[in-house]
Amino acid sequence: MNALEFMRRGELVRIDKFAPDTMLLEYLRLTEKSRGTKEGCNEGDCGACTVVLGTPYNGGVRYQAVNACILLLGQIHGKELITVDDLAHGGILHPVQQAMVDAHASQCGFCTPGFVMSLFSLAHEGRKVSRQDVVEQIAGNLCRCTGYRPIIDAGLAACGAVDDHWHKTQAETFVTLENIKGDLFAGDTNSFFAAPSTSETLADLCATYSEATIVSGCTDVGLWITKQMRAQPKIIYTGAAKDFAHIVDHGSHLSIGAGATYEDAFEALEKISPDLGGLLKRIGARQVRASGTIGGNIANGSPIGDMPPALIALGATLHLRSGKTERKLKLEDFFIAYGKQDRKPGELVWQIDVPKPKPNQMFHCAKITKRRDDDISAVMGAFLFTFDNEKIIAARIAYGGMAGTPKRASKTEAVLIGKTLQEAMHIVLDDFEPLSDMRASAEYRSTVANALLHKALMQAAGETDLQVLI
Ligand SMILES: Cc1cc2nc3c(=O)[nH]c(=O)nc-3n(C[C@H](O)[C@H](O)[C@H](O)COP(=O)(O)OP(=O)(O)OC[C@H]3O[C@@H](n4cnc5c(N)ncnc54)[C@H](O)[C@@H]3O)c2cc1C
Ligand code: FES
Ligand code: FES
Repeated sequence: MNALEFMRRGELVRIDKFAPDTMLLEYLRLTEKSRGTKEGCNEGDCGACTVVLGTPYNGGVRYQAVNACILLLGQIHGKELITVDDLAHGGILHPVQQAMVDAHASQCGFCTPGFVMSLFSLAHEGRKVSRQDVVEQIAGNLCRCTGYRPIIDAGLAACGAVDDHWHKTQAETFVTLENIKGDLFAGDTNSFFAAPSTSETLADLCATYSEATIVSGCTDVGLWITKQMRAQPKIIYTGAAKDFAHIVDHGSHLSIGAGATYEDAFEALEKISPDLGGLLKRIGARQVRASGTIGGNIANGSPIGDMPPALIALGATLHLRSGKTERKLKLEDFFIAYGKQDRKPGELVWQIDVPKPKPNQMFHCAKITKRRDDDISAVMGAFLFTFDNEKIIAARIAYGGMAGTPKRASKTEAVLIGKTLQEAMHIVLDDFEPLSDMRASAEYRSTVANALLHKALMQAAGETDLQVLI
C-alpha cells in the first residue's frame, strides 16, 4: 500500500503524497483548513491541539485523546480521526459541548476545543466516570482564564450521557478500519513514511534503512520536528505492527513488546506494584500516555525518563533486534553514557522482560516533580529489597535524574546487605554527584534521593511514621 488511509466524518480518506514529517496539527490547520483545533505550545504540554483517534478494538472502536501537535499525519493510518469541528450536527451541539456551555466552562475559549475533545474521548469510553476520572482526563489541558471547576462540572454532567457511536456505528467503523490492511510505504527510497504491519517486516525495514528515524509514539521525536526544526525525511513508524505491542504474562515475569503504550501496559504493570501504576499515571497526561511507548522511553536514553529506573530495579532484561538477529542484555547495561546507548543504527528496542517481585521481595518507586501532573522528574527512585526474616539480603536501587544515565546505586546496595530495616534507615547514599539544572539543584537532588530511599525502607516496614524506625 502506498497511500495513507484513515476515516474522517464517516468516510474513508486517502492521501497519496505527503511529507513524512508532516504533523497532524499542521495538516488539519493548513491543508484541511479545520481550524477549530488550536496550536498552543506545540510540544504536547497544553492540550489545545487535542483530537481523538478511534482504533479498532475488540470488535468496536477505542477512542483516545492525543496531541495533534506531536503526532505525525502518517500515524493516523488505519484510524478514525475526530476533531472539534466535527462534533455539532445540524446546529445541535454534542452533549460535551452543551455541558461546557451550561456550566459556563469557557471564557476566552482558546483552550476549549482541547478540553471538549479530551472529555469527548472520556464520554465515549462507555463507562460511568467519577470526579477523579474527569480530573485525570483533563490533566493535560491547560486553561488560563476560566478555572477548572466549571470544566470538571461539565465533564461530570456529560460523560456517561453519550451514545456510543459517532457518524457510523462502532461495528461499521470497525469493519472499515479493519479493511485497511498491509504494509504502508508512502514516498520513495529518498523520502518516505513507512508503517509495516508486522514486527518481522518492521525489523527487516529498519535493518534495510538503518539511517531512517524509528518513530513509536512520537512524543519525543515530535519535539525534534516542532521545536528543533529537524527535518525527518525517512520515517519508520512502529505503531501499525500490532504484534510489536504484545503484553504476555509468563507467571514469573511479563514480556512487553516495545511498541506497547503506557495505556496498554498500565493494567499489567499496576498488578506488579501499585507504585508502578501510580508512576504510570504520572507520566505526561492521558494524551501522552495514549501515544508514548515503553520502548520509546528506553530507546531515547534520557537520564530523566521514568520507566528505566523502575524497570532496572525490578531486574528487567532488554531484547534488541537487528534484522533477524536478536540479542539480550540487562537493561542497566543499555545506558552507556549521557546520550549514548548500546544500540546500533537500525536496531530496534524489541521487548522488555520484567520479573515480578517474589513473596520475600518488596518494590517501591516514586517520582519527584515541580507539579503533580504532566511534569518530568527532577529525581526518580526505584527500590527492590529482598528479605530473609528481618534482614535485607539483596537490594536493587536505581535512580533517574542523579547522573547522565539512569543508574544503580551499587555502593548503597552493597552496604544494605545484612542490615535490618532499622539499621538501614541510618545509611546515607554515596553513589552520585548530581548536576544542578533548571529542574533542581544538586543539593536538592541529593536530599530528595536520600528521602526517597528512606521512604522506601519505611514502606517496606509497613510504617508511615518515620519516628518508629529511627
Ligand atoms: C508533554 C510531555 C510529557 C512527558 N512526560 C514524561 C514523563 O512524565 N516521564 C517520562 O519518562 N517521559 C515523559 N515524556 C517523554 C516521552 O513521552 C517518553 O519518553 C515516551 O515514552 C517516548 O516514547 P515514544 O513512543 O513517544 O517515543 P518516540 O518519540 O517515538 O521515540 C523516542 C526515541 O526512541 C527511538 N525509538 C522509539 N521506539 C523505538 C524502538 N522500538 N526501537 C528503537 N528506537 C526507538 C526514536 O527513534 C527516538 O530516538 C513526556 C513527553 C511530553 C511531550
Ligand atoms: S499545542 Fe499544546 S499540546 Fe499541542
Ligand atoms: S477559556 Fe481562556 S484559556 Fe481557557
